[in-house]
Amino acid sequence: MRQLNEFPRLSLGLFPTPVHRLEKLSRLLGVELWIKRDDLTGLGLGGNKVRKLEFLLAEAKAQGAEVVFTTGGAQSNHAMLTAAAANRLGMKAILILKKRGVTACVGNQLLERLMGTEVRFLDTDDYADIYDEMDRLGQSLGLPYYKIPCGGSNALGSLGYVACAGELSEQKPRFDHIVCAEGSGGTMAGLALGAKLFLPGTKVHGMMVDTDPFDEITPRLMREAAELLGEKVDITSDDYDLRDMCGPGYAIPSAEGNAAVRLMAEREGIFLDPVYTGKAFAGLIAMAQEGAFRPDERVLFVHTGGAGGLFALDMEEN
Ligand SMILES: Cc1ncc(COP(=O)(O)O)c(C=O)c1O
Repeated sequence: MRQLNEFPRLSLGLFPTPVHRLEKLSRLLGVELWIKRDDLTGLGLGGNKVRKLEFLLAEAKAQGAEVVFTTGGAQSNHAMLTAAAANRLGMKAILILKKRGVTACVGNQLLERLMGTEVRFLDTDDYADIYDEMDRLGQSLGLPYYKIPCGGSNALGSLGYVACAGELSEQKPRFDHIVCAEGSGGTMAGLALGAKLFLPGTKVHGMMVDTDPFDEITPRLMREAAELLGEKVDITSDDYDLRDMCGPGYAIPSAEGNAAVRLMAEREGIFLDPVYTGKAFAGLIAMAQEGAFRPDERVLFVHTGGAGGLFALDMEEN
Protein backbone atom coordinates (compact mmCIF):
# COMPACT_ATOMS: atom_id res chain seq x y z
CA MET A 1 0.00 0.00 0.00
CA ARG A 2 1.23 3.45 -0.89
CA GLN A 3 1.12 5.09 2.51
CA LEU A 4 -1.30 7.97 2.84
CA ASN A 5 1.47 10.14 4.21
CA GLU A 6 3.39 9.70 0.94
CA PHE A 7 0.79 11.80 -0.86
CA PRO A 8 1.55 15.50 -1.21
CA ARG A 9 -0.66 17.19 1.34
CA LEU A 10 -0.90 20.77 2.49
CA SER A 11 -1.66 21.75 6.05
CA LEU A 12 -4.87 23.79 5.88
CA GLY A 13 -6.80 22.65 8.95
CA LEU A 14 -6.46 21.91 12.64
CA PHE A 15 -6.30 18.16 13.16
CA PRO A 16 -7.18 15.92 14.89
CA THR A 17 -10.67 17.30 15.34
CA PRO A 18 -12.23 16.58 18.74
CA VAL A 19 -14.40 13.55 19.48
CA HIS A 20 -16.76 13.84 22.42
CA ARG A 21 -19.83 12.28 23.88
CA LEU A 22 -23.33 13.74 23.50
CA GLU A 23 -24.69 13.03 26.97
CA LYS A 24 -28.18 14.44 26.68
CA LEU A 25 -28.89 13.05 23.25
CA SER A 26 -27.50 9.66 24.29
CA ARG A 27 -30.06 9.54 27.08
CA LEU A 28 -32.86 10.78 24.83
CA LEU A 29 -32.18 8.35 21.98
CA GLY A 30 -31.13 5.39 24.12
CA VAL A 31 -27.80 4.96 22.30
CA GLU A 32 -24.22 5.75 23.27
CA LEU A 33 -23.79 8.70 20.95
CA TRP A 34 -20.57 10.58 20.19
CA ILE A 35 -19.70 13.33 17.74
CA LYS A 36 -16.60 14.07 15.65
CA ARG A 37 -16.25 17.80 15.31
CA ASP A 38 -15.30 18.24 11.68
CA ASP A 39 -17.26 21.48 11.93
CA LEU A 40 -14.13 22.67 13.74
CA THR A 41 -11.55 21.98 11.05
CA GLY A 42 -10.15 25.47 11.43
CA LEU A 43 -10.56 27.15 8.02
CA GLY A 44 -13.50 29.41 7.16
CA LEU A 45 -16.40 28.20 9.26
CA GLY A 46 -14.92 24.70 9.35
CA GLY A 47 -16.34 21.63 7.64
CA ASN A 48 -15.41 18.45 5.82
CA LYS A 49 -14.00 20.00 2.67
CA VAL A 50 -10.83 21.13 4.42
CA ARG A 51 -9.62 17.52 4.58
CA LYS A 52 -10.19 17.01 0.86
CA LEU A 53 -8.61 20.32 -0.08
CA GLU A 54 -5.38 19.42 1.71
CA PHE A 55 -4.86 16.72 -0.93
CA LEU A 56 -6.44 18.44 -3.93
CA LEU A 57 -4.68 21.76 -3.56
CA ALA A 58 -1.36 20.01 -2.92
CA GLU A 59 -1.75 18.50 -6.38
CA ALA A 60 -2.76 21.89 -7.79
CA LYS A 61 0.35 23.51 -6.29
CA ALA A 62 2.58 20.70 -7.50
CA GLN A 63 1.26 21.25 -11.03
CA GLY A 64 2.06 24.97 -10.77
CA ALA A 65 -1.57 26.13 -10.86
CA GLU A 66 -2.23 29.80 -10.15
CA VAL A 67 -5.99 29.63 -10.63
CA VAL A 68 -8.31 27.11 -8.97
CA PHE A 69 -11.77 26.50 -10.36
CA THR A 70 -14.51 24.70 -8.56
CA THR A 71 -18.27 24.42 -8.63
CA GLY A 72 -21.40 23.48 -6.71
CA GLY A 73 -24.78 24.99 -5.92
CA ALA A 74 -25.11 28.68 -5.09
CA GLN A 75 -24.60 28.01 -1.37
CA SER A 76 -21.88 25.38 -1.77
CA ASN A 77 -19.83 25.06 1.40
CA HIS A 78 -17.18 23.32 -0.64
CA ALA A 79 -16.85 26.26 -3.03
CA MET A 80 -16.60 28.74 -0.16
CA LEU A 81 -13.90 26.68 1.57
CA THR A 82 -11.99 26.27 -1.69
CA ALA A 83 -11.93 30.05 -1.99
CA ALA A 84 -10.76 30.41 1.64
CA ALA A 85 -7.98 27.87 1.10
CA ALA A 86 -6.91 29.44 -2.21
CA ASN A 87 -6.70 32.88 -0.59
CA ARG A 88 -4.51 31.50 2.15
CA LEU A 89 -2.25 29.81 -0.40
CA GLY A 90 -1.97 32.88 -2.64
CA MET A 91 -3.91 31.26 -5.49
CA LYS A 92 -6.92 32.77 -7.25
CA ALA A 93 -10.19 30.90 -6.84
CA ILE A 94 -12.89 31.27 -9.46
CA LEU A 95 -16.20 29.68 -8.53
CA ILE A 96 -18.55 28.78 -11.37
CA LEU A 97 -21.71 27.84 -9.54
CA LYS A 98 -24.97 26.38 -10.73
CA LYS A 99 -27.74 28.94 -10.58
CA ARG A 100 -29.48 26.64 -8.15
CA GLY A 101 -30.37 27.59 -4.58
CA VAL A 102 -30.03 30.95 -2.85
CA THR A 103 -27.91 33.31 -4.96
CA ALA A 104 -28.50 36.40 -2.77
CA CYS A 105 -25.63 37.82 -0.74
CA VAL A 106 -26.33 35.72 2.37
CA GLY A 107 -24.71 32.63 3.85
CA ASN A 108 -21.77 31.38 1.78
CA GLN A 109 -22.38 34.06 -0.85
CA LEU A 110 -21.78 36.68 1.83
CA LEU A 111 -18.60 34.93 2.97
CA GLU A 112 -17.35 34.82 -0.62
CA ARG A 113 -18.05 38.56 -0.95
CA LEU A 114 -16.01 39.16 2.22
CA MET A 115 -13.10 37.15 0.81
CA GLY A 116 -13.15 39.01 -2.52
CA THR A 117 -13.85 35.78 -4.41
CA GLU A 118 -14.75 35.81 -8.11
CA VAL A 119 -18.14 34.08 -8.34
CA ARG A 120 -19.98 33.36 -11.60
CA PHE A 121 -23.30 31.61 -12.07
CA LEU A 122 -24.14 29.35 -14.98
CA ASP A 123 -27.76 28.57 -15.71
CA THR A 124 -27.38 24.85 -16.32
CA ASP A 125 -28.27 21.58 -14.65
CA ASP A 126 -25.29 19.79 -16.15
CA TYR A 127 -21.88 19.99 -14.51
CA ALA A 128 -20.29 19.09 -17.88
CA ASP A 129 -21.26 22.60 -19.11
CA ILE A 130 -19.52 24.09 -16.09
CA TYR A 131 -16.30 22.09 -16.57
CA ASP A 132 -16.28 23.23 -20.24
CA GLU A 133 -16.72 26.81 -19.10
CA MET A 134 -13.76 26.40 -16.70
CA ASP A 135 -11.58 25.32 -19.64
CA ARG A 136 -12.79 28.20 -21.80
CA LEU A 137 -12.14 30.72 -19.06
CA GLY A 138 -8.84 29.15 -17.97
CA GLN A 139 -7.51 29.23 -21.52
CA SER A 140 -8.61 32.83 -22.03
CA LEU A 141 -6.86 33.86 -18.81
CA GLY A 142 -3.64 32.25 -20.03
CA LEU A 143 -2.70 31.14 -16.50
CA PRO A 144 -2.07 27.59 -15.30
CA TYR A 145 -5.29 26.38 -13.72
CA TYR A 146 -6.60 23.40 -11.76
CA LYS A 147 -10.19 22.14 -11.76
CA ILE A 148 -11.70 20.69 -8.61
CA PRO A 149 -14.91 18.73 -9.23
CA CYS A 150 -18.14 19.45 -7.40
CA GLY A 151 -17.71 18.70 -3.69
CA GLY A 152 -14.04 17.79 -4.20
CA SER A 153 -15.36 14.26 -4.64
CA ASN A 154 -12.85 12.42 -6.76
CA ALA A 155 -10.49 9.69 -5.59
CA LEU A 156 -7.81 12.14 -4.47
CA GLY A 157 -10.25 14.26 -2.48
CA SER A 158 -11.71 11.15 -0.87
CA LEU A 159 -8.29 10.43 0.61
CA GLY A 160 -9.06 13.24 3.05
CA TYR A 161 -11.65 11.01 4.67
CA VAL A 162 -9.53 7.88 4.43
CA ALA A 163 -7.10 9.95 6.51
CA CYS A 164 -9.96 10.89 8.86
CA ALA A 165 -10.58 7.19 9.51
CA GLY A 166 -6.87 6.83 10.23
CA GLU A 167 -7.17 9.76 12.65
CA LEU A 168 -10.14 8.07 14.35
CA SER A 169 -8.12 4.87 14.75
CA GLU A 170 -5.75 6.87 16.96
CA GLN A 171 -8.53 8.48 19.00
CA LYS A 172 -10.59 6.91 21.72
CA PRO A 173 -13.01 5.21 21.96
CA ARG A 174 -13.70 2.74 19.14
CA PHE A 175 -17.05 2.94 17.35
CA ASP A 176 -19.38 0.31 15.97
CA HIS A 177 -21.18 2.77 13.69
CA ILE A 178 -20.18 5.99 11.96
CA VAL A 179 -22.87 8.20 10.44
CA CYS A 180 -22.22 11.03 7.98
CA ALA A 181 -23.97 13.08 5.31
CA GLU A 182 -23.49 12.12 1.67
CA GLY A 183 -23.80 14.98 -0.82
CA SER A 184 -21.29 14.31 -3.58
CA GLY A 185 -19.87 11.09 -2.14
CA GLY A 186 -16.23 11.68 -1.22
CA THR A 187 -16.71 11.91 2.53
CA MET A 188 -18.72 8.70 2.76
CA ALA A 189 -16.48 6.82 0.32
CA GLY A 190 -13.33 7.94 2.13
CA LEU A 191 -14.71 6.99 5.53
CA ALA A 192 -16.01 3.63 4.32
CA LEU A 193 -12.68 2.75 2.67
CA GLY A 194 -10.79 4.11 5.66
CA ALA A 195 -12.91 2.02 8.03
CA LYS A 196 -12.07 -1.06 5.97
CA LEU A 197 -8.37 -0.23 6.27
CA PHE A 198 -8.09 1.19 9.79
CA LEU A 199 -11.29 0.46 11.74
CA PRO A 200 -12.24 -3.18 11.31
CA GLY A 201 -15.72 -3.89 12.64
CA THR A 202 -16.95 -0.32 12.16
CA LYS A 203 -19.91 0.15 9.80
CA VAL A 204 -20.24 3.47 7.99
CA HIS A 205 -23.70 4.82 7.14
CA GLY A 206 -24.12 7.51 4.48
CA MET A 207 -27.18 9.70 4.71
CA MET A 208 -27.96 10.78 1.16
CA VAL A 209 -29.05 14.41 0.91
CA ASP A 210 -29.14 14.55 -2.89
CA THR A 211 -30.67 12.27 -5.52
CA ASP A 212 -27.52 11.13 -7.34
CA PRO A 213 -26.97 7.35 -7.76
CA PHE A 214 -24.86 6.93 -4.61
CA ASP A 215 -25.13 3.16 -4.77
CA GLU A 216 -22.86 3.47 -7.84
CA ILE A 217 -20.86 6.55 -6.80
CA THR A 218 -19.87 5.28 -3.34
CA PRO A 219 -18.25 1.96 -4.34
CA ARG A 220 -16.67 3.53 -7.45
CA LEU A 221 -14.99 6.26 -5.39
CA MET A 222 -13.94 3.66 -2.80
CA ARG A 223 -12.33 1.53 -5.53
CA GLU A 224 -10.61 4.49 -7.17
CA ALA A 225 -9.27 5.77 -3.85
CA ALA A 226 -8.05 2.26 -2.97
CA GLU A 227 -6.31 2.13 -6.36
CA LEU A 228 -4.56 5.44 -5.66
CA LEU A 229 -3.28 3.89 -2.45
CA GLY A 230 -2.22 0.76 -4.31
CA GLU A 231 -4.45 -1.15 -1.94
CA LYS A 232 -6.05 -4.33 -3.22
CA VAL A 233 -9.41 -4.47 -1.49
CA ASP A 234 -12.65 -6.04 -2.55
CA ILE A 235 -15.43 -3.50 -2.16
CA THR A 236 -18.85 -5.05 -1.67
CA SER A 237 -22.20 -3.63 -0.64
CA ASP A 238 -21.45 -4.87 2.91
CA ASP A 239 -18.78 -2.17 3.18
CA TYR A 240 -21.23 0.72 3.33
CA ASP A 241 -24.82 1.46 4.12
CA LEU A 242 -26.89 4.18 2.45
CA ARG A 243 -30.13 5.83 3.48
CA ASP A 244 -32.21 8.34 1.57
CA MET A 245 -32.65 11.47 3.69
CA CYS A 246 -33.05 13.96 0.83
CA GLY A 247 -36.72 14.73 1.57
CA PRO A 248 -38.18 17.40 -0.72
CA GLY A 249 -34.93 17.85 -2.65
CA TYR A 250 -31.27 18.85 -2.48
CA ALA A 251 -30.81 22.04 -0.48
CA ILE A 252 -34.52 22.17 0.32
CA PRO A 253 -34.99 21.85 4.08
CA SER A 254 -37.02 18.86 5.32
CA ALA A 255 -39.21 18.74 8.42
CA GLU A 256 -37.13 15.88 9.93
CA GLY A 257 -33.85 17.64 9.13
CA ASN A 258 -35.01 20.89 10.68
CA ALA A 259 -36.24 19.06 13.79
CA ALA A 260 -32.80 17.45 14.08
CA VAL A 261 -31.08 20.86 13.75
CA ARG A 262 -33.28 22.20 16.55
CA LEU A 263 -32.78 19.16 18.77
CA MET A 264 -28.98 19.34 18.53
CA ALA A 265 -29.04 23.08 19.18
CA GLU A 266 -31.42 22.83 22.14
CA ARG A 267 -29.85 19.82 23.86
CA GLU A 268 -26.16 20.12 23.06
CA GLY A 269 -25.52 23.73 21.97
CA ILE A 270 -24.12 22.52 18.64
CA PHE A 271 -25.36 23.90 15.32
CA LEU A 272 -26.09 21.61 12.41
CA ASP A 273 -27.30 22.89 9.02
CA PRO A 274 -30.54 22.24 7.10
CA VAL A 275 -28.90 20.97 3.86
CA TYR A 276 -26.45 18.29 5.03
CA THR A 277 -25.87 17.65 8.70
CA GLY A 278 -29.45 18.21 9.91
CA LYS A 279 -30.78 15.68 7.40
CA ALA A 280 -27.93 13.29 8.23
CA PHE A 281 -28.60 13.53 11.96
CA ALA A 282 -32.31 12.98 11.28
CA GLY A 283 -31.25 9.72 9.61
CA LEU A 284 -29.31 8.73 12.71
CA ILE A 285 -32.34 9.47 14.88
CA ALA A 286 -34.53 7.33 12.59
CA MET A 287 -32.04 4.47 12.81
CA ALA A 288 -31.99 4.73 16.62
CA GLN A 289 -35.79 4.67 16.69
CA GLU A 290 -35.83 1.61 14.42
CA GLY A 291 -33.48 -0.20 16.83
CA ALA A 292 -30.59 -0.32 14.33
CA PHE A 293 -28.04 0.23 17.13
CA ARG A 294 -27.66 -2.30 19.97
CA PRO A 295 -27.48 -0.89 23.51
CA ASP A 296 -23.86 -2.05 23.86
CA GLU A 297 -22.78 -0.33 20.63
CA ARG A 298 -21.14 3.07 20.24
CA VAL A 299 -22.32 5.43 17.49
CA LEU A 300 -20.30 8.34 16.07
CA PHE A 301 -21.92 11.19 14.17
CA VAL A 302 -19.46 13.05 11.96
CA HIS A 303 -20.42 16.73 11.99
CA THR A 304 -19.28 17.84 8.55
CA GLY A 305 -19.95 21.57 9.05
CA GLY A 306 -22.18 23.64 6.77
CA ALA A 307 -22.83 26.61 9.05
CA GLY A 308 -23.02 28.94 6.03
CA GLY A 309 -26.25 27.26 4.95
CA LEU A 310 -27.83 27.94 8.33
CA PHE A 311 -27.77 31.65 7.52
CA ALA A 312 -29.04 31.29 3.96
CA LEU A 313 -32.08 29.08 4.11
CA ASP A 314 -35.50 29.72 5.54
CA MET A 315 -36.16 26.98 8.08
CA GLU A 316 -39.26 28.58 9.51
CA GLU A 317 -41.58 26.94 6.98
CA ASN A 318 -40.81 23.51 8.43
C1 LIG B 1 -21.58 20.57 5.37
C2 LIG B 1 -21.44 19.44 4.46
N1 LIG B 1 -21.63 18.21 4.94
C3 LIG B 1 -21.55 17.13 4.14
C4 LIG B 1 -21.28 17.26 2.81
C5 LIG B 1 -21.24 16.02 1.98
O1 LIG B 1 -19.95 15.61 1.71
P1 LIG B 1 -19.64 14.94 0.33
O2 LIG B 1 -19.84 16.00 -0.72
O3 LIG B 1 -18.24 14.53 0.44
O4 LIG B 1 -20.59 13.83 0.13
C6 LIG B 1 -21.05 18.54 2.25
C7 LIG B 1 -20.75 18.76 0.84
O5 LIG B 1 -21.35 18.35 -0.09
C8 LIG B 1 -21.14 19.65 3.11
O6 LIG B 1 -20.95 20.89 2.65
